[in-house]
Order: sequence, then C-alpha cells, then structure tokens
Amino acid sequence: VANICLLAAGVMLCSIPACPLDNKEIFIHLRQMKTIPSQSCLEHRHDFRFPWRRENITPIPMTQSTCYHQQMLQQIFNLFTTENSCAAWNSTLLDKLLSSLGQRLEQLEEVTLDCPDLGIAVRKYFQGIHLYLKEKEYSSCAWEVVRVEIEKCLSLM
Ligand SMILES: *[C@@H]1O[C@H](CO)[C@@H](O)[C@H](O)[C@H]1NC(C)=O
Repeated sequence: VANICLLAAGVMLCSIPACPLDNKEIFIHLRQMKTIPSQSCLEHRHDFRFPWRRENITPIPMTQSTCYHQQMLQQIFNLFTTENSCAAWNSTLLDKLLSSLGQRLEQLEEVTLDCPDLGIAVRKYFQGIHLYLKEKEYSSCAWEVVRVEIEKCLSLM
C-alpha cells in the first residue's frame, strides 16, 4: 500500500517506511539539543542551498524517495558523529539523537537502493554544511544555525 505524503513542494511522494512521522523522534531529539536562542545567531545565517526547495518543481520519483531518505539520514548521522559535534553538544542528548537516527537507518537498510544522482546532490549539500562549520570554526552559533537547517530538512522529508 503506497502511502502518499508530501515532500518539499507537495510534489514528492514517499513510501511508508520513509514518511515524516518516522522522523518525528529524530526531530524531537534535535529540538531538545537547542541551547542558544536562534535570534542571537542571526548574523551567522547561511543559505546552504537545500536542493529540494518548495519552488523546485522537479519531483523525486517515488522509487527513489526511500533511497533519498537513507542518504539524508546517513549524512545527518555522519555530521553529528564528528569529533566537533561531540565537543559542541550535550552528550546525553546527542546520544539520543544518534540512537534514533541509527534505528531509522537500520529500518531503511532493509531495502536495497540505488540513487546515484540524488546521492551526489545530497553529498554536495552536506559538504557545504561541513565547510561552513569549518569556516566558522565550529562556533556555538554555527552549530545552532546547522541544527536549525537540519530541523528544516527533517520537516521537509
Ligand atoms: C545534558 O542534558 C541532560 C538532559 O536534558 C541534562 O540532565 C544534563 O544536565 C545536561 N548536561 C550538561 C552538561 O548540560
């Protein structure tokens, strides 16, 4: 049974294992990690060029959406397992985030996937995030900006 859910522009479809509800726990943990008000980091805002904006009319084919989710979640997992992430965040809350991400990834791994083009786009997007953090010397504000960006990704997934 194909469950239809909206992704980015309401043009992308996703299958049951990849629907937003499943990202809810990850989202909640990410939100709990917030330590500084986003308003105090306004001058650090950055356009990370999220490839699947509302105005982007190219839909991700349903056959590839699970693959897309897997790629995104893997990259989020990689981002938050870096040494600098461990130094930046409360370890208890970070552990919770990583464990919920790990669980989702395990569920998604049951499906064999191949989406090279999407994979490249996702990696490029995350390279931009890693580069931004490096340029900002992994400051608290930079991490907060990134945390909000990832919240946005998750809510659009
Ligand atoms: C980390 O978060 C937990 C749960 O909210 C809290 O009990 C703990 O005091 C925090 N640790 C630090 C070092 O802030």
